[in-house]
Amino acid sequence: MPPPHGDDESYAHTPLIPPPPLPRRATARLHLFPLLVAATFAAYYHLVAAPAPSYYQSLFLSLGSNDTAAAHLRALTIRPHLAGTPANALAAEHVVSTLSSLSFPTRVTPYSVLLSYPVHRSLSLSAPGRATTAFALVQDAYPDDPSAAASAEAVPTFLAYAASGSAAAEVVYANYGRTEDYADLASRGVNVTGKVALARYGKVYRGDIVKNAHEAGAAAAVIYTDAKDYALGKTFPDGPWMPPTGVQVGSTFKGVGDPTTPLWASSEGCERVSVAEAMATDDMPGIPALPVSGRDGQEILQLIGGDVAPEDWQGSDGAPVYRLGPGPAVLNLTYIGNETMATIQNVISVIEGKEEPDRYVILGNHRDAWTFGAADPNSGTATLLELAQRLSELQKKGWRPRRTIILCNWDAEEYGLIGSTEWVEENRAMLTLRTVAYLNVDIAVSSSGFDVSATPQLDQLLKQASKQVQNPDNGTESLYDLWMASDGSPLIGRLGGGGSDYSAFVQHIGIPSIDISIGSAASIWGLVALKLSDEEILPFNYSSYVAELENGAVDINERVLGMPVSVSPLHKSIKEFNRAVIKVDSELKVLQTWKVWSPWRNNPMRVRDLNDRLMMTERAFTDREGLFGRPWYKHMIYAPSRYNDYGAQVYPGADDAIQTAKRTNTSESWQSVQHEIHRIARVINQAALVLSGGLT
Ligand SMILES: *[C@@H]1O[C@H](CO)[C@@H](O)[C@H](O)[C@H]1NC(C)=O
Ligand SMILES: *[C@@H]1O[C@H](CO)[C@@H](O)[C@H](O)[C@H]1NC(C)=O
Ligand SMILES: *[C@@H]1O[C@H](CO)[C@@H](O)[C@H](O)[C@H]1NC(C)=O
Ligand SMILES: *[C@@H]1O[C@H](CO)[C@@H](O)[C@H](O)[C@H]1NC(C)=O
Ligand SMILES: *[C@@H]1O[C@H](CO)[C@@H](O)[C@H](O)[C@H]1NC(C)=O
Repeated sequence: MPPPHGDDESYAHTPLIPPPPLPRRATARLHLFPLLVAATFAAYYHLVAAPAPSYYQSLFLSLGSNDTAAAHLRALTIRPHLAGTPANALAAEHVVSTLSSLSFPTRVTPYSVLLSYPVHRSLSLSAPGRATTAFALVQDAYPDDPSAAASAEAVPTFLAYAASGSAAAEVVYANYGRTEDYADLASRGVNVTGKVALARYGKVYRGDIVKNAHEAGAAAAVIYTDAKDYALGKTFPDGPWMPPTGVQVGSTFKGVGDPTTPLWASSEGCERVSVAEAMATDDMPGIPALPVSGRDGQEILQLIGGDVAPEDWQGSDGAPVYRLGPGPAVLNLTYIGNETMATIQNVISVIEGKEEPDRYVILGNHRDAWTFGAADPNSGTATLLELAQRLSELQKKGWRPRRTIILCNWDAEEYGLIGSTEWVEENRAMLTLRTVAYLNVDIAVSSSGFDVSATPQLDQLLKQASKQVQNPDNGTESLYDLWMASDGSPLIGRLGGGGSDYSAFVQHIGIPSIDISIGSAASIWGLVALKLSDEEILPFNYSSYVAELENGAVDINERVLGMPVSVSPLHKSIKEFNRAVIKVDSELKVLQTWKVWSPWRNNPMRVRDLNDRLMMTERAFTDREGLFGRPWYKHMIYAPSRYNDYGAQVYPGADDAIQTAKRTNTSESWQSVQHEIHRIARVINQAALVLSGGLT
C-alpha cells in the first residue's frame, strides 16, 4: 500500500523520485554522481525500508473493532473491583495477560498505600411529633438486574476517608456546600456550628463539600444527589441519568497520592507518616460524613424549617420548597471507617522505540472502580487494550515506533489518583528527563460528544488529529466536525483540575499532557500517540500557550485593579516567551524547507536539540518550592483551585494570594500577591530561555 497523503505536510512532500538527470559535463558528473547515488538511496530508504509515519497512522485508523473492546469491557466489569480487593487484582491479571499476549513486555508495579473502607454506617431522621426513621443506606436493585448477585459484592455506600464518629444534631441545608454557600448562611444568621450540614452534589469536589462543612463548624455532613442536577433526562435503567435511589460514592481526600507518603513514593521500606497523622492533616475532611440518594435527601429536606432558601438553592420544578433550618429535622449519623494499608497494582507495558528509545510517550487509564466501572473507568481500559491490539497489528506490518510508547493501567485512582501519583513520584527524575507527553483517558464512553483537555502546546495536534478520525456516531463527519458543532469553535479544556491521573504528570513534574473522553477514543488516542512517537519533529506548537498566558494575565490585572500590585513583570515575561515562540517557529520552517527540497535527512543532532527544547519548555513552568502552602503542586500555571479540587485554575498561586488579600486586605497580603506575580514571571522567563535555547 502506498503511503497515503494526509495532513502531515512534512512527510507528504518527501520526494519519492530521484532528482532529474543532470547536464552531461564530465566535471559536473564527477561531483554530482555521489550525490545522485545518495539521493537515490535516501529516497529508497524513505519509500521501501521505512514507510512514512502517516502510512502507519492510516493503517492504525483502519483497524478499529468494536468486538475487541466489547470483549475486554465484559471481562473487566464482571464483578465490582474496588482498589485493594482481590477482584481488582484479578482485573489487573486480565490486563497483564492481554498485553503480554501481544508480546509487549509487561509488568505489575505494586504499592502498599492507605485506603479506606466502611465498617459501620447508620443514619436516622427525627423531628418533633414524628417517629424516628432509619435510612437503609443502600442502592436499590432494579427489576431483572442481570448483575444482582455480583452487586452483593459492591462496597456499601460511603465516603472514603471520612472521620469515624457520631453526631446527632439539627440539620442545616447548605446548597452545594461551597465556601460562598456557608458565607451566605452566615449572612442570613444561620449558625452551622455543631449542626449536621446537608449539601447537594454538583458544583465542587465532594472532599471540598465535607471540608467546608467542617470549617463552618458542622459536626457531620450528608451529601445527596438532587434531581435538578442529576436527572435531566430518562433515569437508569431507561436512560443514563441517576435514579432517585442512586447514591454517589466517592473519596473525600483532598490530597494526591498515598496519604502516608505525602511528597514521596510509597516504595518498599520507605519512610511513612503514621495513619493517625495522615488522617489528621488538612487534606482530610475531619468529620464523619455519608452520601445518600436523592429520595433520602428529599425526605430530610421536607422536615427542615426556618427561612425559605434563595431561588438558586431550590430544587427542580415540582420539588418541595427548600428551607435553610436549622432543624427541626434532626439527623443522627454514625460512620466507622477502616483506614488500612492495602496493596494496589499498576500495570506497565513498554513498546520500545527504535531511533529514540530514551524518549517516552505515555498512555494511561485507571482500572479500579467504586462498583462495576462500566463507564468509569473501564470503557477507557477496554479502549487501551483495543488500542494495544491495533499497535501489535502495526508491529506485524513492520512498524517500530521512533520513540518508546508506554501503556499504563493505574490503580486506586478513585481514592486520590494514588497509583499514578506513586509511580510518577518514584520515577520522577527519569520521567522529567525523558517524557515527551502523557495521554490520559479515564471515562472513554459516557455520552456522545468530544471532551478534551490539554496543555496548550498540544492544541494544534489535537485539532489536526481530530480531522482524521470519524465521528463514531456519524460516518459522514469527522470528530473535528462533532467537536465544532457544540459552539462553533473547538473548545479545549485545561488540566488545572484534579479530576484524573494526568495530575501528577502535569501539576507535579510539568509533562505536556492530554485528557480525552469520546465514544471511540481508541482512534484519536492512538493517532495522537503515533504522531508524538513517530514524527521526527515533535508536533508541538507553543503559540496557543502565549494566548493562554496572556488571558490569565488580563484576568489577574482586572482582579487587582486599584490595588498596590503591578502585573507588568508578568506581561514582560509573556512578551519574552512570545519572542521565543516566534524564533522556534522560524527554526522549524528552516528544518522543514530543508527536508522538502532535499532527499537528505535533517541533521539528527539539530532535530534532537529542537525536540528537547520543545519537550522541556513545559518543565520550565514548574518551580522547585511549589505553590505556597501546597508544595506538591510545582506547576505555576496549572493547579486545582484551593477551594474546589475539580476547578482548573490558571496561575493558582496568584489566585490563592488574591483570594486571601481580598479577605484580609492588609498590605502584607497584597505584597504576597506581588510576590506570586514575580514567581510566575520567573518561570515564564525560564520557559522562554529553554524554548529559544539561549543563555543570558
Ligand atoms: C460498532 O458498533 C456500532 C453500533 O453497534 C456500529 O454502528 C458501528 O458500525 C460499529 N463499528 C465497527 C467498526 O464495527
Ligand atoms: C454559633 O453557635 C456556637 C455554638 O452554639 C456559638 O459558640 C457561636 O458563638 C455561634 N456563632 C455565632 C456567629 O452566633
Ligand atoms: C443515635 O443513634 C444511635 C443508634 O444508632 C443511638 O444509640 C443514639 O442514642 C442516638 N442518639 C440520639 C441523640 O438520638
Ligand atoms: C481493617 O482492615 C484490616 C485489613 O484488611 C483488617 O485486618 C481489620 O480487621 C479491619 N478492621 C476493622 C475494624 O474492620
Ligand atoms: C451526520 O453528519 C452530517 C454532516 O455534518 C449531517 O448532515 C447529518 O445530518 C448527520 N447525520 C446524523 C444521523 O446525525
